[in-house]
Amino acid sequence: MTSAHLPIARTYQPPAPLPSPKRLGLVALLRTLIRNPVECWAEEHFQKACVTVRLPLLHAVLVHEPKAIRRVLLENAGNYTKDAVQRRVLSAGLSEGLLSAEGSRWQMQRRTLAPMFAPGAVLNLAPGVLKAIAALCDRWHRHCGDRVLDVAAEMTRLTLEVLERTIFSDGLGRDVDEIRRAMGIYFNAIGRISPLDLLGVPDFVPRIGHLRVRSTLRFFESAIDCIIAARQQRLDERPNDRPEDILTLLLKAHDPDTSVRMTAAEVRSNILTFIAAGHETTANALTWSLFLISQSPEWRSRVEAEADSAIGGPINGMLDRLVVTRAVVEEALRLYPPIAAISRVATNSDELAGERIRRGSLVVIAPYVLHRHRLLWNCPEDFDPARFLGNARKEIDRFAYMPFGAGPRICIGSTFAMQEATLVLATIVHHFRLELVPGHAVWPLLRVTLRPAGGLPMIAKSRRSRERMHGAFGV
Ligand code: HEM
Repeated sequence: MTSAHLPIARTYQPPAPLPSPKRLGLVALLRTLIRNPVECWAEEHFQKACVTVRLPLLHAVLVHEPKAIRRVLLENAGNYTKDAVQRRVLSAGLSEGLLSAEGSRWQMQRRTLAPMFAPGAVLNLAPGVLKAIAALCDRWHRHCGDRVLDVAAEMTRLTLEVLERTIFSDGLGRDVDEIRRAMGIYFNAIGRISPLDLLGVPDFVPRIGHLRVRSTLRFFESAIDCIIAARQQRLDERPNDRPEDILTLLLKAHDPDTSVRMTAAEVRSNILTFIAAGHETTANALTWSLFLISQSPEWRSRVEAEADSAIGGPINGMLDRLVVTRAVVEEALRLYPPIAAISRVATNSDELAGERIRRGSLVVIAPYVLHRHRLLWNCPEDFDPARFLGNARKEIDRFAYMPFGAGPRICIGSTFAMQEATLVLATIVHHFRLELVPGHAVWPLLRVTLRPAGGLPMIAKSRRSRERMHGAFGV
């Protein structure tokens, strides 16, 4: 019997807000949206295909039926554009990048960038991931058993380092500490929702959070510009001696249809977009995965057994051997999708799940609700990675499970993120056993991404010696 087929003794129901029996009234709804939007859902959202919300200035339809979602994101995707608030919140400062572009600019960029995130290209980036994990394990080993780690903060640091190593493999240059500090401030500032965003105030009105750190933002953007210029010069002068990383790929990339290259502003915006869209999301997926297995001895043993036999072998094929680890990540993304809701605005009228959609209606698809919907999942509140193993995985409707979205605007970094999360989880589990600090209550909090409120305090206990650790990375 392989580790994938061991029976599981009991299930675990991780912490989640209990849906309210009735919809919240307007004032309570607004208060909850500001405090913690993931607490705003009512019973009917998890039971009905479609729920309509009529407010004086807003007609919103919450859609949680796979066929209707397929229509919004795929079949009739041209009728549904990203709404202004979502674009502003997710992509402030990244206006030339893929996440916020629309129409022909988006199409051109997506065609140009797609080969960079294809499975073969992503596998070439694995050494950068392994180096960042080696540095983390080395650091943790020094504090093993005695110091409480905030695993949420550690995962954010790790995923930033992974992106730094895979985008700029030859380093950030002389000002590395200052650039790293500025990077932290930059992504903290742009990731914050300003009340002006929620009110729909246009971009030219400065946000207070941005004003306070304006000089840091400028320093960071100009530092990235210098790194890009230096790399361009290196590629021009020594084309055969080029680092194999995302920056080189971005500078060489061209539209397969027209051969047009991206402008310098687009290259910079996309670097910032990849870091903004890729680090908190992947960090949350890892944080929740580590929390969930710490609460389920059975699944933890299965991941440990799988990791112990796969880690240290060749990177090629390693991911195929980490099926249980991957299933744990997928289940963590089901229960706690980092992007808990996505939304679109209808440009013309339509019909979804029997509901009339007006021009200008806001259509909301919340993976958090969809992934716990009573009509779509058995025991949706249970942590059960077996849903993603073998034939069970094939039975999940493509539009019932979508932590990375779906259709033409599906996350371009999903293969990269899954590869990274699987490798990191397996490596950590191979080296350490993480235990939640006794008495700490974990609770999901939605702040742009879905994270544990107040971090995740855990103690790491070593499962092997530091010397044996170094042999395991092969880097
Ligand atoms: C677990 C990790 C991640 C999750 C859960 C996630 C989730 C998502 C979702 C749900 C969307 C679609 C949003 C919509 O349709 O409105 C999206 C788009 C996007 N993601 Fe990710 N993402 C992750 C990691 C990454 C990484 C690692 C990168 C880049 C290195 C990335 C780059 C992007 C970009 C550029 C888009 C916009 C694509 C387009 O509009 O064409 N993401 N992501």
